Amino acid sequence: MARRPLVVGNWKMNGTRASAKALLADILAGLPTDARAEVGVCPPAVFIPEAAEALAGKPVLLGAQNVADQDEGAYTGEVSAPMLREFGCALAIVGHSERRLIYGESDKLIAARYGKAIAHGITPILCVGETLEQREQGSTFAVIDQQLGAVLEACGAASLRKAVIAYEPVWAIGTGRTATPEQAQEVHAYIRRQIAEREPEVAASLRILYGGSVKPDNAGALFGLPDVDGGLIGGASLDAKSFLSISLAA
Ligand code: 13P
Repeated sequence: MARRPLVVGNWKMNGTRASAKALLADILAGLPTDARAEVGVCPPAVFIPEAAEALAGKPVLLGAQNVADQDEGAYTGEVSAPMLREFGCALAIVGHSERRLIYGESDKLIAARYGKAIAHGITPILCVGETLEQREQGSTFAVIDQQLGAVLEACGAASLRKAVIAYEPVWAIGTGRTATPEQAQEVHAYIRRQIAEREPEVAASLRILYGGSVKPDNAGALFGLPDVDGGLIGGASLDAKSFLSISLAA
């Protein structure tokens, strides 16, 4: 089954109101109307309202970098799926390794965030991936099993029909050290097999993105792999030229 590639920029906690506006304008100006890949951006939450205005009616999806596990109430610091929907967010990253490792988010919490995104019509981009230590211990697949397993248990494999997975090896994020095409393909294929055992059709149509030091010069080799359906781009998504070049490689 043909899967349309997806390339999403994760801006993380970078930029100013002015730089965000300029970056969006440059992306919109440079993106060809017939681009093969679907393209999205996830700005910091405070920039979402202006980004929503800039992107209205445009072929770039808007996303959030996280989403609350509750709809409303006394949850200081959180932003809910209904709020994000009101500003036109189509995507929400959940379970990014920076959330897992720096802020201690558990598999269970991440599964709840994922469930809320789906319940409100937002496509979650579920991030999974091992640390360098885990890879060296040979536990990459066990880590993926655990991260994916929590979501499968809470929401079922069929829920992945409305989701995207991003494989982001922690050792490749922001380090300039990319997974080799063999390493990426091996894990992507593994993830797809785990889903296929439960829901073969869902597995066939599921987009699995690679993330971790994707740059214009390595994007083509990664995106050309059979089970890599695009990318989740950090640093290189802050520069319109790099991000467009990566998007066009998908
Ligand atoms: P870098 O592209 O900066 O390595 O970040 C990847 C990432 O974490 C995207 O979510």
